[in-house]
Order: sequence, then C-alpha cells, then structure tokens
Amino acid sequence: MKRFDDKVVMVTGAASGIGRAAALRMASEGAKVFCTDINQLALDELVDEISQQGGNAVARVFDIAAVGAAEDCLAALLEQWGRIDALVNMAGILRFANAHETPLEVWQQIIAVNLTGTFMLCKAALPELVKSQGAIINAASTASLQGLPWGVAYGASKGGVLALTRSIAVEYAKRGVRANCVCPGDITTGMVQGLSFPDDADFELLSRITSLTGAKGPEVVAGVIAMLASDDGIHITGEEIRVDGGILA
Ligand SMILES: NC(=O)c1ccc[n+]([C@@H]2O[C@H](COP(=O)([O-])OP(=O)(O)OC[C@H]3O[C@@H](n4cnc5c(N)ncnc54)[C@H](O)[C@@H]3O)[C@@H](O)[C@H]2O)c1
Repeated sequence: MKRFDDKVVMVTGAASGIGRAAALRMASEGAKVFCTDINQLALDELVDEISQQGGNAVARVFDIAAVGAAEDCLAALLEQWGRIDALVNMAGILRFANAHETPLEVWQQIIAVNLTGTFMLCKAALPELVKSQGAIINAASTASLQGLPWGVAYGASKGGVLALTRSIAVEYAKRGVRANCVCPGDITTGMVQGLSFPDDADFELLSRITSLTGAKGPEVVAGVIAMLASDDGIHITGEEIRVDGGILA
C-alpha cells in the first residue's frame, strides 16, 4: 500500500514550483490528483508526466481569484472522483514595491489570490473534508512570521493565511479535519525567478530572506506537504512548518 492509495487530492498552483512538485509527489504515492492553475499548457504537461509515471491526474483551469471559482473547482473535482481527502492551496503571487507606492490594484490582486482564494477553497472543501476526515495544507511563508521589506501586500496576505489556517484547525479539530501551513523560504521556483525590486531597494535588508544552507528546489517542500496530508501527520494541526533553510532559526 502507498500512503495515498484511494485518496483524492486537489492542488492549486499545480502548474509550477511547489504545487507542481506536490502534485508529482502525491501522485507517485498513489493519490488521484486534481491539478488546477491558470496555466493550461503547463497543467497539461504535468498531467502527461504523471500519467507517464503510472499516476492518475486530471487538470482543470481555474483562476482562484475569480468569484465562484472555488465552488466550481470543487464541483468539478467531485464530479470527477466524488470525494476529497486533501486540499493543497499553493497558488500564489508576489510583487515587490515600496509600501508607500504599492498600487491599490496590486494590493487587491495579491490579497484576492493568496488570501481570499485560499479561504474560498477551504470554505468550499470543508464539508467534504469533514466527510473524508481530510486535511488542508496552505502556503504561508516566512513572510507570515517576519517582516518582508517591499512585500507589504504579500506579507499581509501570508499572515492572513496563517491566521485563517489556525482558526480552521481549532474550529474543525473535533470534526476530524486537520489544517496546517508550510512556510517555504528560498525555494527556487517561477515565483522568485524574474522578480523585480524597486530601484532603491536595500539588499542588506533583503538578505533576511536568504537561507543559511542555500536555495533548494520545490521538492523539499513537497515532501513536507505530503507528510502533512497523510496519516503521518495525523497528530499535527494548526501548525506552521518552516521549510526555509534556517532563515528564521
Ligand atoms: N518559492 C518560495 O521561496 C516561496 C516562499 C514562501 C512562500 N511561497 C508560496 O508557495 C506557493 C507556491 O509558490 P511557488 O514558489 O511554487 O510559485 P510559482 O510561481 O512557481 O507557482 C505559483 C503558481 O500559482 C499559479 N497562480 C497564480 N495566480 C493564480 C490564480 N489566480 N489562480 C490559480 N493559480 C494561480 C501560477 O500560475 C503558478 O503556477 C505560493 O503561495 C507562494 O507564495 C513560496
């Protein structure tokens, strides 16, 4: 038996980075994986890769910031497989700007994707997760736990993700649903490649988000997500696990 045999998992942000690695990891351990993102092409490549490795996955495009998307996404998963055992919310965006210059639209978009999108999927999935005694794993960040210079909107969104995850963990503990966060840091993915900073950004301050052990690939986070989603994490809820190479050690 593999850890996720007979289990159904939804992964958002599955087209890239940590979400992609989590989808591959759980599929390799027997999960049926419902992969969702805004990037159709990359999702299709992921599903092909999982199929070639003998796994079972489907891909559906949803913009989790869109009104009604979470409900539609959950409905599509239930139509496909009839149950959900783990919800892995990895979709996220990051933009850097001086706090006093951050446009309202940028603030609203980051909150809409990172925080509201995560919440709405939790909300949609919770009744089904009570039935399956399932688990939620949300993408928080080291920015949930320490100040991120030039990342005021991102930091606020990730602080919110941590707070909402703890609230769900307590509220649903007696109903058998676990909710946890991973707090990645210095993981080489599409998100961190090609980021731009304000011209006057102070790189000494930005060194606070550099790990002690060097950047790592997304698979180091995927293993922790799989642990939290599986029965190996059965006594863990309301927890945030840093996977940050010692940034906050
Ligand atoms: N990489 C890191 O060091 C790091 C550190 C802390 C937290 N995180 C968090 O981990 C999660 C995964 O990040 P990553 O590094 O793998 O980034 P990534 O950019 O490689 O992947 C993010 C995915 O989210 C998708 N996405 C963006 N907006 C979306 C939307 N509206 N609807 C659906 N999908 C959407 C993107 O298309 C992309 O495939 C994010 O929530 C991120 O904030 C990453």
